Amino acid sequence: MSRKKFIAGNWKMNTTVDDACRLAQEIVTAVGKATDVDIAICPPYTNLSEVSKVIKESAVTLGAQDVHWETSGAYTGKVSCSMLKSVGVTYVIIGHSEQRQYFHETDETVNKKVTAALAAGLLPIVCVGETLDERKSGAMDTVIERQTKGAFRGISREDALKCTIAYEPVWAIGTGETATPKQANDAHIFIRNIYTGLYGDQAASQIRIQYGGSMKPENAKELLAQSDVDGGLIGGASLKAASFLRIVQPA
Ligand code: 13P
Repeated sequence: MSRKKFIAGNWKMNTTVDDACRLAQEIVTAVGKATDVDIAICPPYTNLSEVSKVIKESAVTLGAQDVHWETSGAYTGKVSCSMLKSVGVTYVIIGHSEQRQYFHETDETVNKKVTAALAAGLLPIVCVGETLDERKSGAMDTVIERQTKGAFRGISREDALKCTIAYEPVWAIGTGETATPKQANDAHIFIRNIYTGLYGDQAASQIRIQYGGSMKPENAKELLAQSDVDGGLIGGASLKAASFLRIVQPA
């Protein structure tokens, strides 16, 4: 089963509206209407609406960096699925390690967000990954299994197939240190096996698993050539059109 590659840019807490529109325009101009990879850009909430207009009718799709599971109400600072839908969002990153580390994200909140996103017709990008301590102490497999099973608790096979998983080893995020292609692929195979246990072989052969953690033009080609690496979730290198595009369209 060949899986179409999926490259997403996570802009994190970067870009003003003007910066975001400029960056999105540069990407759209280069990519045009059709590509052989799926592409998403995930700007901050404040820029979604304007960026949505810039990428309209291009092959570039829009993602958000988080969502709240409640539909509306007194949740100061939070944004709901329907709000994201209303500005043209297709994908939503859920369970990013920065949310887990700094903002009290747990496997339970990840699961609530995944459930709500799917119910609203958004496509979750579910992030999992171990810290350096967890890897060194041999807890990596347990952690990844707990995060993956936790995220998909109660999710039907049909809905689970709408998700993407992003393997993002915390020690490789923003550090310049990348997992070797073999380390990444081994983790992806491990995650795919967990998914097989949950949803069976056929679903597991379809689910896309992105790698994230200091992916850049210099290492993307080799990472993306691995059997189980189906794309990338790119932080720093997605903030410059040229480097993002070199990952999307390797020379
Ligand atoms: P970097 O590419 O900056 O390491 O970030 C990866 C990431 O966290 C994407 O979600």
